[in-house]
Amino acid sequence: MGNHARTTAATAPTERLRRVRAVSERLCAPLAVEDHVIQSMPDVSPPKWHLAHVSWFFEAFLLKPYLPGYRTPEPLYDLLFNSYYETHGTPFPRIRRGLLSRPTVAEVLDFRRHVDAGLAELLAAPPAEHADEIARRLELGLHHEQQHQELLLMDIKHILAQNPLCPAYRRDLPVAPPAPAQQPGWHAWPAGLYETGHAGDGFAFDCEQPRHRVFLDAFALARWPVSNGDYLAFIMDGGYARPELWLADGWAHIQQEGWLAPLYWRHGEDGWQEFTLGGLCPLDDQAPVCHLSFYEADAYARWAGARLPSEAEWEVAAQAASPTGNFLDSDYLHPLATAPQGEGPQQLFGDVWEWTASAYRPYPGFRPLPGSLGEYNGKFMSGQMVLRGGCCATPADHIRASYRNFFYPHQRWPFTGLRLAREA
Ligand code: AVJ
Ligand code: FE
Repeated sequence: MGNHARTTAATAPTERLRRVRAVSERLCAPLAVEDHVIQSMPDVSPPKWHLAHVSWFFEAFLLKPYLPGYRTPEPLYDLLFNSYYETHGTPFPRIRRGLLSRPTVAEVLDFRRHVDAGLAELLAAPPAEHADEIARRLELGLHHEQQHQELLLMDIKHILAQNPLCPAYRRDLPVAPPAPAQQPGWHAWPAGLYETGHAGDGFAFDCEQPRHRVFLDAFALARWPVSNGDYLAFIMDGGYARPELWLADGWAHIQQEGWLAPLYWRHGEDGWQEFTLGGLCPLDDQAPVCHLSFYEADAYARWAGARLPSEAEWEVAAQAASPTGNFLDSDYLHPLATAPQGEGPQQLFGDVWEWTASAYRPYPGFRPLPGSLGEYNGKFMSGQMVLRGGCCATPADHIRASYRNFFYPHQRWPFTGLRLAREA
């Protein structure tokens, strides 16, 4: 009985670990060795760096503290693959990640095997006095690796998009079924005192907590995310040339960068196309618009006579929705037009992250995790905006209604789009 209980308690996390670790390697399988090494801009990390960094996270926060006798294959990996944990050590500069021809991809995969073996050993017999903390850190490490699975796809797309050959990441992506024409509309919520933030037993990041009350005035959310066709109308109406539609920082940024359309859109002889993980494709008018900065999302909303939702408004709507949609697991790796599911707002989850009007700031009573892991989220709560709902590159079991993603307002290489809101 005792043995049996120990086995089943140890099997579930071990199996989850095996599955999550396998996904990262499956995502990199279509890449050439050369693709693994490129850093196409400072925000992008080379794919092999992601593979190593997520392993370093387990090494630094689980194996070194809790597995007696653990030996790293290379002490300097603690510097190379530390992303930003300044209280842990001095990280190798982010902007130079693309200069590392060594360790090779094969050596990074060996490092992964080494960490996997250490984790198997640790989880087979976790020291009793640390068992709870080990379980918590394992869970965090798994969600961390899932965040990097999405980052891998964002970065692979950006890397391949630099190349005039427009190489497809995969030629075998599934073809989406045709969707019926969308009926636009709005869904309204009454003014009142609502609750947002994570509550309950499941995993959530520190920044989603504590659950707390928020007062909302009556509001309405659009039934659908903004589509490519909608956004094209904004472009054709001179949206990128009308300063009255833009925040000052946004106007300055589009001048400086020369932006005239979303990232990855190209205008050719056959009209608008977009670069996707399946290569260059004609733009689908009905699919959610993707790869917009916060500035572009905000300008579009102003042009449309609406606004972006607050993160609380979005979460209240999402609490009543099923957290299903076009995620990594559906394997399209691209936002799609879909048929309506149920009565409420459509596509809250999956397809594109939705920019909100809310700054990424702590909830009342926020407490970061203790120690170096306190650097995970809390120290980024300055100058960034919250996005909600996950996207076509997010693992399905990584998202929830309370999930807060965050990016700087100029960033648009994530799978980012928007949904309109207005007073009800
Ligand atoms: C929440 C996506 C902004 O990319 O730094 C990865 C996710 N946190 N490793 C990031 C994350 C730690 C984070 N974002
Ligand atoms: Fe990370």
